[in-house]
Amino acid sequence: MGDKIIDPQSEEMKFEPAEDFVINANINDPGIYKKAEEDPEGFWGELAGEISWFKEWDTVLEWEPPHVKWFNGGKLNASYNCLDANIEKNGDKTAIIWEGEMGEVRKYTYRELLAETSRFANVLKSMGVKKGDIVTIYLPMIPEVVIAMLACARIGAPHSVVFAAFSGGALCNRISDAKSNLVITCDGYYRRGKIVSQKQKVDEGLNSCGQLKNVIVVQHAKNEVTMSENRDLWWHELMEEAEPECEAAIMDSEDMLFLMYTSGTTGKPKGIVHTTGGYMVGTHISTKWIFDLKDDDIYWCTADCGWITGHSYLVYGPLSNGTTIVMYEGAPDYPEKDRFWEIVEKHKVTILYTAPTAIRTFMKWGTEWPKKRDLSTLRLLGSVGEPINPGAWLWYHENIGQGKCPIVDTWWQTETGMIMISPLPGITTTKPGSATRPFPGIKAAVLDEKGNKVSPGQDGFLAICNPWPSMVRTIHGNEQRFIDTYWSKWDNKTYFAGDGAKMDYDGYFWISGRVDDIIQVAAHRIGTAEVESILVAHPAVAEAGVVGKLDEIKGEVIWCYVILKTGFEENEELKKELISHVAKNIGPFARPQMLIFSDDLPKTRSGKIMRRVLKAIANNVDTGDVTTLQDPDVVATLKEKTMKAQN
Ligand code: PRX
Repeated sequence: MGDKIIDPQSEEMKFEPAEDFVINANINDPGIYKKAEEDPEGFWGELAGEISWFKEWDTVLEWEPPHVKWFNGGKLNASYNCLDANIEKNGDKTAIIWEGEMGEVRKYTYRELLAETSRFANVLKSMGVKKGDIVTIYLPMIPEVVIAMLACARIGAPHSVVFAAFSGGALCNRISDAKSNLVITCDGYYRRGKIVSQKQKVDEGLNSCGQLKNVIVVQHAKNEVTMSENRDLWWHELMEEAEPECEAAIMDSEDMLFLMYTSGTTGKPKGIVHTTGGYMVGTHISTKWIFDLKDDDIYWCTADCGWITGHSYLVYGPLSNGTTIVMYEGAPDYPEKDRFWEIVEKHKVTILYTAPTAIRTFMKWGTEWPKKRDLSTLRLLGSVGEPINPGAWLWYHENIGQGKCPIVDTWWQTETGMIMISPLPGITTTKPGSATRPFPGIKAAVLDEKGNKVSPGQDGFLAICNPWPSMVRTIHGNEQRFIDTYWSKWDNKTYFAGDGAKMDYDGYFWISGRVDDIIQVAAHRIGTAEVESILVAHPAVAEAGVVGKLDEIKGEVIWCYVILKTGFEENEELKKELISHVAKNIGPFARPQMLIFSDDLPKTRSGKIMRRVLKAIANNVDTGDVTTLQDPDVVATLKEKTMKAQN
């Protein structure tokens, strides 16, 4: 039987780090916070020396708000840092333990990973990919996704990894925005025992991507695919002919390392630009300190490489530290609900980093599943992607961490590149539900509308008040949106994170989630405007309002309110069709849980849909002031429809 998710009052519940953990921790001197605060530039400058540079930087920080340059003048290569820099000490150490959903295991030593990466880098070069060309990667969780990312970095071609579960259409939008000529994909992959035909999605999506020249296809699931002559090429055939050595390109610290598309408050996703030097320093150090990495750790971050967590804490952070990482292709309940725990047992995982939505799902499935497996190798647990409720935190601590593993609840974003608020496990006393304190060198605050600090215990907006090395540099092709989104709420020196938060009397941060029109569904970030624009593209839909409804397992789920065009009838069939239309056009992870037809929506007098009111209706909470609505009566009608739809 599953455990019920009950949230105890946890602000006063505390867990101190265990003595033996503290003694052996990479960082156990609380003085580190003061040191970083007194001289952030000196602090980051010293830490930058822990990664490999071809040439040292001229300046640590150049800050012309909101534009920043970190380690300007420095020369380095991210792939070199993840591979070559480890060869002398760790050449024969396992870099990747990969497990397929069907049980196949593949391992790569650092030396092998370097050779494969170099081979693929040579393939890219032979196809004419040059420094600065953006390469789109549309691969599932197979080792080739890491090899492709590192090969791009090796030759200085920024990668844009698109989550494999996105639709072909969503892929095409991202290819067009990035102006990519090349996509790397596979034939198919396994999900709950069935093959997802990835290549077919590419073929469907590519119709409208004019500039695309080539598709490289990894043969993985061996399902049948159609190869388009001159355009599509097999990865294994190209690799056969490629040499296993390729010198890493010398990159400027501020050269783009990758683009990562993320949802914003308009229908168009934002291409977040990360550069090389600052990103590598931020991810390298934060991984080492927050996960307390040791030489013999087996580290498993369950995130997909299609999201920022997969970039920072599966690839660049851990590999630049010479860590052995675990990668898993498939679903947590295939063939049984103990698959994660089987993997922990089999590969002797010591550090596990996952999302609250997964933890709550495991809670629902019940403790009998983890109990079947030996989890005694685990020594540290992490959480990311959404607020973790205290009930889930305690369950994770007790049933997965056997009451002994520290939990690091890590707050950060695609835009921040690295973890910004988190415990340091050898220092911080944790409180279930709080991400605790900013990482050393990071200055965070909770501000009101006007930019004043709010008192402890009061709700406000989360802000970052000083620059940090791995911060977003711009939005690809849209500098104004970059400024408007992040640097305009207060002043151009203060980063607006888009999250609500409060601070308690101990200075601990409690993050409540997004305050803008972004929904976190099972830790996947989805813009309400993105779903709305897909809905109104359907011939039957006149208008749509989309909001997040709180959900015990997924954190939030998507609810849609839809006005039909004249001549279309409200019925179950059309409702199902519209729900599938969204899932098909964005990806199955964006499938709305509820769709309600209505004749009207709450709108301002200027005709703008007030999502705040819709959200309150969906969540059955007070709608607040509705006097500014065009027609305040619409609230009562929608409440009634919502009640009916739920029954
Ligand atoms: O709302 C916050 C939530 O995830 C958002 C960022 O989403 P994304 O860019 O997709 O990156 C997810 C992985 C870093 C944030 O604005 N979030 C992330 N981690 C936490 C969190 N909310 C509360 N607590 C966290 N630990």
